[in-house]
Amino acid sequence: MRVAFFDTHQFERSVFESVNKQFGFDLCFFDVRLNRQTAVLAKDFKVVCSFVNDSLDEETLGMLKSGGCKLIALRSAGYNHVNLSAANLLGLTVVRVPEYSPFAVAEHAVALLLTLNRKIHRSYQRVRELNFSLEGLVGMDLHGKTVGVIGTGKIGSAFARIMHGFGCNLLLFDISPNGNLASELNASYVTLEEIYQGAHAISLHVPLTPQTQYLINQKALTQMRHGVFLINTGRGALVNTKDLINQLKTGHIGGAALDVYEEEESIFFLDHSNEVLQDDTFARLLTFPNVIITSHQGFLTQEALGNIALTTLTNIQDFERQNPLKHQVTAPAN
Ligand code: NAI
Repeated sequence: MRVAFFDTHQFERSVFESVNKQFGFDLCFFDVRLNRQTAVLAKDFKVVCSFVNDSLDEETLGMLKSGGCKLIALRSAGYNHVNLSAANLLGLTVVRVPEYSPFAVAEHAVALLLTLNRKIHRSYQRVRELNFSLEGLVGMDLHGKTVGVIGTGKIGSAFARIMHGFGCNLLLFDISPNGNLASELNASYVTLEEIYQGAHAISLHVPLTPQTQYLINQKALTQMRHGVFLINTGRGALVNTKDLINQLKTGHIGGAALDVYEEEESIFFLDHSNEVLQDDTFARLLTFPNVIITSHQGFLTQEALGNIALTTLTNIQDFERQNPLKHQVTAPAN
């Protein structure tokens, strides 16, 4: 079976090649992202493997179908970048990797919160310039503080458990509350408003859906506690970035740490250091001393990469052998 990989990076190719020894597929790696311009590269490949910033819109999917594609194997948990209705209509099967290491992303969210709170990003730079001043570096004890977790699925619950270990009080929100988690952590499920009013730090772990898009907007931000830290490792468009910038400018929001950005497709994963940054909103974000941005690296651990490769290739093997597909995604029924 020939598999065309798009938007590939050296760090994952070697892992896929190693895991593929037990599967024996014919893997072909393309650096470019999958979109209307590049879909032609997948001609005669029965399987296309794509990542989070590929664009699988109706036209691209149509081109893949004409080229002989039968299976879209996402090597991601999120699938908001795929037009699932179009895929279903075209008869393209879509599978994903629903879980590869919730700890990878949860630990990254914790790293972002700790960095933001204790201003490690600033002290790192200062010390390298032999500036050992402590002015402006005061943080707070996280112990005893209240942390809001929005989305308590695999990643949100791993994050909540770590924060519980830090001695934080947890306020949880999810459309499907997990009673066992709440009792384990001595925490409560509350309304979003209660999280906004009570939490010193809020971490987002819901998927991007029409219901969660811009969940964090001007109204939500102004309801939040003064000086709150906002952590987003979910998806960029959970947050209205312009509204966030407004509230950072007033000082109401104490800081933001973002592993995702709503317009990240044109920025993240690539070296733009020789170019002029065209995205003025992103440029403004970069000017705040209390904003930390990482380029969607929450998943980037050895364990997660190994699991992504194993599940992706198992998904493809299941499709090839006509086994039941454990990780198929379909369009929601209307
Ligand atoms: P999950 O499916 O285990 O958990 C998501 C939770 O969100 C579920 O408990 C669900 O009930 C809840 N939820 C869904 N819609 C909701 C709504 N409208 N309001 C409140 N709660 C809602 O997913 P998992 O594995 O925890 O991943 C969460 C998200 O993290 C993914 O959807 C993805 O966008 C993001 N992610 C980011 C990565 C990164 O590298 N930064 C890597 C992997 C995932």
